Amino acid sequence: MVAGLALTALTTCALAQAAKPNVVVLATGGTIAGAGASAINSATYAAAKVPVDKLLAGLPELSNVANVKGEQVFQIASESFTNDNLLTLGRRVSALVKQADVDGVVVTHGTDTLEETAYFLNLVIHTNKPIVVVGSMRPGTALSADGALNLLNAVTVAASKDAAGKGVLVTMNDEIQSGRDVSKSVNIKTEAFKSQWGALGMVVEGKNYWFRAPVKRHTAQSEFNIDSISTLAAVDIVYSYGNVPRTLFDAAGKSGIQALIHGGPGNGSVADRIVPALQELRQQGIQVIRSSRVPDGFVLRNAEQPDDKYDWVVAHDLKPQKARILAAVALTQTRDTKELQRIFWQY
Ligand code: DGL
Repeated sequence: MVAGLALTALTTCALAQAAKPNVVVLATGGTIAGAGASAINSATYAAAKVPVDKLLAGLPELSNVANVKGEQVFQIASESFTNDNLLTLGRRVSALVKQADVDGVVVTHGTDTLEETAYFLNLVIHTNKPIVVVGSMRPGTALSADGALNLLNAVTVAASKDAAGKGVLVTMNDEIQSGRDVSKSVNIKTEAFKSQWGALGMVVEGKNYWFRAPVKRHTAQSEFNIDSISTLAAVDIVYSYGNVPRTLFDAAGKSGIQALIHGGPGNGSVADRIVPALQELRQQGIQVIRSSRVPDGFVLRNAEQPDDKYDWVVAHDLKPQKARILAAVALTQTRDTKELQRIFWQY
């Protein structure tokens, strides 16, 4: 009798498990894995301390949403990410989404460069399965910590069929953002991440509410694939401002880069004294990509700068840090200016 009851319970449990999606959480560090000295330390803490198994064990609500497994890929603050970290993480995501027993992937990440990693994965992972990048602005030890709900929302979205085919997503502060569009816009609030074109939707009490979908190429529709990328192209950014000296651009040109992102004021404006410096870079075979330091809007081609004449590329609406990611990926496939400009219009 007892054995029969135990068997029934086991079967029920197994059936319940089988009914739930399988989500893998890849942990990389950041504040979501941070720890402070006391509950009032919401901004003073050490990032990248709590291991993924402890993060998951501290959130039993996850088991209502999906069968969740954790992997510790790195344990670093995200300002220390490198191209090699991006490639290692991307290869692991690519391998997991190929597995029939994986329905979605979550990446826990520091918020400082979260937007770069999310865009990178958006460009190179060939899948329609949900991939959700998530972080937090406060460590789990702080009062009103945001990491637990952000992580629960991330797993909820990663486990959702209606999140498929929308590109890499970011869940922060109840919102579902496009990995392409989102940027960290406030560095000291839980409402930190914004997309100038708006969030894609929200997660509220375990339910996704969608209001728009991405229109730029991503994931399964991308011409780029992590599985055929061995190294990313070297691309650097020079931030421009009043009185900027050309020495910064000259030095960048000597560092072996394949492209320079000019982070200009306004519509990606280039100071008169800097134009010859950029022309010299172009003559050395270095691609010049005009981006804007202005948070919103997009750079117009051939407006104040004769891009056709100088053979320059414009970064469209991509901020310098995102333009670097796209250029680093695109240059693994082409060094042709017209092709690069097409890629910047499409991705
Ligand atoms: N060191 C920062 C990082 O890892 C902490 C910021 C955060 O994760 O919120 O990105």
